[in-house]
Amino acid sequence: MNPHPFETVALRDDPCALVIIDQTLLPLETKYLTLTTADEIREAIKSLRVRGAPAIGIAAAIGLYVRMYHALHKKKPENFAEFERIFTETKNYLSSSRPTAVNLNWALEKMSGVFYQNRNEPADKILSALRDTAVRIKEEDARVCRSIGEYGAELLKPGMGILTHCNAGALATSMYGTALAPVYVCKERGVPLRVFADETRPLLQGARLTAYELYAAGVDVTLICDNMASSVMQKGWIDAVFVGCDRVAANGDAANKIGTSGVAVLAAAYGIPFYVCAPFSTIDPETPDGGGIVIEERDSSEVTDKWYANPVAPRGVKVYNPAFDVTPAKYISAFVTERGILYPPYDFRGYTFRE
Ligand code: MRU
Repeated sequence: MNPHPFETVALRDDPCALVIIDQTLLPLETKYLTLTTADEIREAIKSLRVRGAPAIGIAAAIGLYVRMYHALHKKKPENFAEFERIFTETKNYLSSSRPTAVNLNWALEKMSGVFYQNRNEPADKILSALRDTAVRIKEEDARVCRSIGEYGAELLKPGMGILTHCNAGALATSMYGTALAPVYVCKERGVPLRVFADETRPLLQGARLTAYELYAAGVDVTLICDNMASSVMQKGWIDAVFVGCDRVAANGDAANKIGTSGVAVLAAAYGIPFYVCAPFSTIDPETPDGGGIVIEERDSSEVTDKWYANPVAPRGVKVYNPAFDVTPAKYISAFVTERGILYPPYDFRGYTFRE
């Protein structure tokens, strides 16, 4: 059962659509969007209406199915080649929406595998296999996040203070989240925790989304500006850092929302454990180290204008706005995964990406 008062991403069958909560409007407005075209679905991912690595993968998988459903019901493709052309075009189009989170391609590749396994079947059979796969990806994510939560909870004791960055909660997944899953499991078990949420400039996912979902769930959450992390650590208020992640390279370097690597360095300096919570679908063994992870750069207006009545910087000033950074493996105390807690040294080369 979903413990949250919202659903991040869902498939609606009649009429067939991808339904998401528009995260750009939270916490002020709760609005669901019903998306049916490839343009609408790609725009929603690119504009962060749906965001967070696992949620992007689920939205892309459901979105790809929805697009194929409408292709089949609007004008039946003449042959497999035409159906395949629409499938490949849509898959590539959705894949180009954001570059960093590996879950996007992981989910699209799963859909592709099923599409080709059923290539000799009639189109409606292919469609039903795509639907089953998209639904399974979402259901599996909830199970995986629950398991991350249970393993992560083993690291927590009553009264501990936790720092988190960005939003790796229920809004970033189908349910529970990754970094916040241990917090929800502890809440269920009556283990009190204090969570400090970095506001996470420039898009404020910590302030808008993490503070929102934890507060709604009755968790003790305190919002801090990004530049306050050192201060709360110095005061002894933080016992552990829990963050999510968008891509883990084979050597354990991990990309997450911009600012995460700074928090990791601070945690190391203060002797605080730094945990990265991630499903195995976030591991990319084909990228040897963090240097090979493509970091998305976003529009300068997110830094200069977005949250202000008036622009805060001179017009035309140069802006650097990377969405993610890479935390070197040496700062990561452990990965909390659905298969258990993994301690260094890290070596993910043997894992098969398309598993
Ligand atoms: O740009 P976003 O909001 O998609 O970035 C999200 C993050 O960096 C999350 O921490 C990450 O995806 C892990 S989500 C479980």
